[in-house]
Amino acid sequence: MSWFYRIYHFALKCIVIFIGIPNPKLHQGKTGLLDAIEALGLKSGDNVLVVTDQVLLKLNLHQVVENTLRESEFVTHYYADVLPNPTIANVEDGLKVYQQHQCKAIIALGGGSVLDTGKLIGARAVKPNKPVTKLKGLFKVLKRLPPNIAIPTTAGTGSETTVAAVVNDPSNHAKYAATDFCLVPHHAVLLPELTTSMPAHITATTAIDALTHAIEALLSINCLKFSRGRALEACRAIFEYLPKAQQDPQNLEARAQLLLASHYAGQAFTRTSVGYVHAISHQLSAQYGTPHGLANAVLLMPVLTWYGERINQQLALIARYCGLTSLDYPVERQADDLLEHIKRLLLDLHIQTTLTEVLPDDAALLAELALKEAHPDYPVPHFMDPSACQRIIKGIAPTP
Ligand SMILES: [Fe+2]
Repeated sequence: MSWFYRIYHFALKCIVIFIGIPNPKLHQGKTGLLDAIEALGLKSGDNVLVVTDQVLLKLNLHQVVENTLRESEFVTHYYADVLPNPTIANVEDGLKVYQQHQCKAIIALGGGSVLDTGKLIGARAVKPNKPVTKLKGLFKVLKRLPPNIAIPTTAGTGSETTVAAVVNDPSNHAKYAATDFCLVPHHAVLLPELTTSMPAHITATTAIDALTHAIEALLSINCLKFSRGRALEACRAIFEYLPKAQQDPQNLEARAQLLLASHYAGQAFTRTSVGYVHAISHQLSAQYGTPHGLANAVLLMPVLTWYGERINQQLALIARYCGLTSLDYPVERQADDLLEHIKRLLLDLHIQTTLTEVLPDDAALLAELALKEAHPDYPVPHFMDPSACQRIIKGIAPTP
């Protein structure tokens, strides 16, 4: 079967090489926000839909966007009920607000769930006769979305630059992912002041999610020059600035660097796909509700350790690029230095090594589902078999 997977991976690589995935135009800081809003090409008095959630409204984090839109003489309409696991109803309700006010643009302000909902509202706006369930899969939109801006308020998912949007269908206990180049937002605005109020453990786990995106992108056999450069830079910034943001949550430079790292890691993995850390972590989130970043943080070391010396070259490259080793050391030692550094970082961040909710008896089913997700979609450097996957899952269950 592995030869079939590799042919599929080669096809994915050809799509990236010959069609190319667009990048959003990147803007930073408050002047960047103004530039992005002006670039939407709207007329004064036009209506704009702002998609966000209640937590952000309560924290008043929408104010900077509201003020800038008002200064530009646009009229804002809010859809602010996006759930942490956004549903089809969220998309449809947001679409109603968009249509009711004849909005001309969409600004999504929030974490990955809000940004994904914003993408799907845009997709439904240009495909009014295609329900969300029919947008599942590859290239089901194929139409330019209304002018839009994505403003992340966590530094982790990279959704402001990725081709995918995930939505839940509670009636069928299903999760849909729509993947289309036109889902890449037109503009991404990174505003570090929006992330300073994040609790320390959220800063930590979201940054480790971004680190996992970068490492899994580098491990992918489809990792090309652009993705490699972005992923390495993301790793370097996270290793340098995550401890600084933990030490001083108000450190705007550290916050800006983490947002940029998450953006770069997003650009990398949207071209390479992710790997086994994500394949397993998605099952833990679906089965137990484990937060995505935490699940990745717990699984990262066990999965890297399972690969063993098969990924020494890639790990050594990261270690050298990030200045975590000596250029004089052999590759094996350089790879070990990176693993040691990650282990220490996770320890300093107080990330646990086990998840109390994981039941060893569930390992067989979880492994089956994880490998079903990974094969053939993820161009991993080496294929994992069910028994190895089960061992990893049992290894993060609490010891009896
Ligand atoms: Fe992730």
